[in-house]
Amino acid sequence: MQIIPTHYPETRKRRNRRQEFSRRLVRESHLSAHDLVLPVFVAEGKGVREPIPSMPNTFRLSIDELLKLVAELRDLGIPAIAPFPHITQDKKSLDAAYAYDENGLAPRAIRAVKEAFPDFGIFIDVALDPYTSHGQDGVVDDNGYILNDPTIEILIKQALLYARCGADYVAPSDMMDGRIKAIRQAFEEHGFVNTGIMAYSAKYASSYYGPFRDAIGSSGNLGKADKYTYQMDPANTNEALHEVAMDIAEGADFVMVKPGMPYLDVLQRVKEQFAFPTAVYQVSGEYAMQEAAFAHGWLDRNKIILESLLAFKRAGADMIFTYHAVAAAKLLQQQK
Ligand code: PBG
Repeated sequence: MQIIPTHYPETRKRRNRRQEFSRRLVRESHLSAHDLVLPVFVAEGKGVREPIPSMPNTFRLSIDELLKLVAELRDLGIPAIAPFPHITQDKKSLDAAYAYDENGLAPRAIRAVKEAFPDFGIFIDVALDPYTSHGQDGVVDDNGYILNDPTIEILIKQALLYARCGADYVAPSDMMDGRIKAIRQAFEEHGFVNTGIMAYSAKYASSYYGPFRDAIGSSGNLGKADKYTYQMDPANTNEALHEVAMDIAEGADFVMVKPGMPYLDVLQRVKEQFAFPTAVYQVSGEYAMQEAAFAHGWLDRNKIILESLLAFKRAGADMIFTYHAVAAAKLLQQQK
């Protein structure tokens, strides 16, 4: 692209900004409810709407409540959810066996949503952190090191179970090497040729995930431990391109950059380099910071929600995972 040098007064950039109609005509990025995916926290029980203190206005929902929410999302034009189960302590173990239990909470949630709303999209998280007693995304050796290939064997079982339940996309968020290829192969072998993979490709070892770990109830299990031996170093971007390249080659249908706003540079490079369907996740910590400021009246809620989501579109995102999805979709409706 060539940028032609222009000068004042021949060029006055403010002319196109003067009126709403011309601002609209020159607008380069657009945000729509169709771009949004709502991450949802699912809990056992009936009629449960349990608040999450570090994520104001977000709740853990029992499956019956989740179905009510999905009806609302559908009416708002939001295409999909990303469910995360809140697993009770008695179901957590060193081998994460509940991750592939046919009657587990996540499989029940997928089946219920797909039965009631067959056309509504599900991106189901594939990772072991809700299921391990230590809160890591994989099984560990005697020194606590997260084992790559034994973890993949469990992820395959989990992914196949979700495919059988009717999930549209599995979303491996564990950052083990080679898991996209292994899951794709298993899907092909078992006839799930149309079940997609949304790969958390450039997933950083970020402290912005804190409130999420409260929400799924893994903070206490993880304690002071970190995920530095498998999630990416926040200092790196070239490495993110390699991660994305590998996941595309291994059969991913979407790649993701996560977190969102602190990693817009990574998102932009990924989209420019690969021109591939690219997702971004406005994570729990980003949400919590904004909600804290809203609660104090320090930032304008409606404006900040739309501005922060538009930033992802400008940087190249095709799809945005955001806890603000409902609020954003309602605001976008009002704008019409
Ligand atoms: C688990 C997972 C995490 C998130 C999505 N899937 C947390 C983690 O890796 O510790 C974070 C989402 C958020 O913070 O909103 N594999």
